[in-house]
Amino acid sequence: MKFAFVIHPTSFDDVVRYEPGAVGKGRPLIAKIMEWMPAYVAAHVTGVRTPDGRETEGWFVAAPFMPETMLALPRETVYAKILAAIDLGAGLGAEIVGLGAFTGVVGDAGITLAERSPIPVTTGNSLTIAAGVRSLLRGAHEMEIDLATETAVVVGATGSIGSACVELLAPHVARVVLVARNRTRLERFAADVRERVACEIVTTTDVREAVPRGRLVLTATSSTQELIEPADLQTGAVVCELSLPHDVGRRVAVERPDVLVTEGGNMRVPGAPSFARVREPGLQFNFGLPGGTALACMSETMVLALEERRESYTLGRGIDLAKVREIDALATRAGFELASMRAFEVEIDAARIAATKAAARERLRTFA
Ligand SMILES: NC(=O)c1ccc[n+]([C@@H]2O[C@H](COP(=O)([O-])OP(=O)(O)OC[C@H]3O[C@@H](n4cnc5c(N)ncnc54)[C@H](OP(=O)(O)O)[C@@H]3O)[C@@H](O)[C@H]2O)c1
Repeated sequence: MKFAFVIHPTSFDDVVRYEPGAVGKGRPLIAKIMEWMPAYVAAHVTGVRTPDGRETEGWFVAAPFMPETMLALPRETVYAKILAAIDLGAGLGAEIVGLGAFTGVVGDAGITLAERSPIPVTTGNSLTIAAGVRSLLRGAHEMEIDLATETAVVVGATGSIGSACVELLAPHVARVVLVARNRTRLERFAADVRERVACEIVTTTDVREAVPRGRLVLTATSSTQELIEPADLQTGAVVCELSLPHDVGRRVAVERPDVLVTEGGNMRVPGAPSFARVREPGLQFNFGLPGGTALACMSETMVLALEERRESYTLGRGIDLAKVREIDALATRAGFELASMRAFEVEIDAARIAATKAAARERLRTFA
């Protein structure tokens, strides 16, 4: 069974990687040109092969919009281009489509798009949640953080991804601080989640007040601005960033060598995956990740295709945790695994982790 996955640039860097000629052009102009561009087929994905010999192929279909444009334009205008991209994928034989980045955030997180799509739709958020929580816990293990006494801060806690991450993290930690801007939704979710989890649940609408409260931070916001500042982070903190566009400030990489930041949603794809650009034969489509890896939301779509699951798997903001566990198990069986840790375009190897721990010890000694 074949798949399609709807993509769009999440940053100006994404645009320039795809079209180097965009360098030097004003960002507002780029955003406007993109608004006028129709949907197109960007990449042909082949070589996804499981250890037990199953294979799938698919296409990345682009709905050209910058994230800010998607939030600003009338919803129907945005839906129309996403549906045009889905139609291109269905025309090529895809029987399921995943919604990348803001195409799964806009409006009701895929529900309306699924009603109008000729093929089943998934946001890919179930596997993103599983991968994000695993990534945060892997980072905590590397930084030797004692989870049982620690506070986790979830920024974007009422979202599709964030809310499920809160529930999955809660059994591991002493306290979870939930952060989002809409106070009513935040309090409603906090009251609901307190009935199901044993740990302490605290809420705030102020990111800068929340982040210093825990050494475990997970971000899953739909913000188009950087939210996490270097000065806010505790010594030796671990930050798992799921948000795309990125919401962890780039200055953190330079100013906080004692903090381990990791993009939480990157996965190694089984087989020998190729992401061939459709319009430029011979070139690979570079979406900013190392070869052989993909985002967890892309991976969820591939896993559903490998499993021949012709169903709209993950939709809307109320995530079914049973599906998170199921897709996590199916992905593992299909040979998908967490990619190596990575942040700010750099891989985090053992030497880097050791240096981060040493910097945290030094900072603690200096500020003690
Ligand atoms: N890495 C991957 O594989 C992957 C896969 C899928 C999605 N994503 C990314 O994950 C992120 C979240 O997706 P989602 O589907 O969960 O979105 P969502 O359901 O729209 O949730 C977004 C959350 O962020 C909060 N938020 C937005 N702006 C904020 C701000 N300035 N400060 C604090 N909180 C803010 C929202 O609450 P309020 O509006 O009340 O603030 C909400 O809780 C997006 O960036 C998406 O592109 C990544």
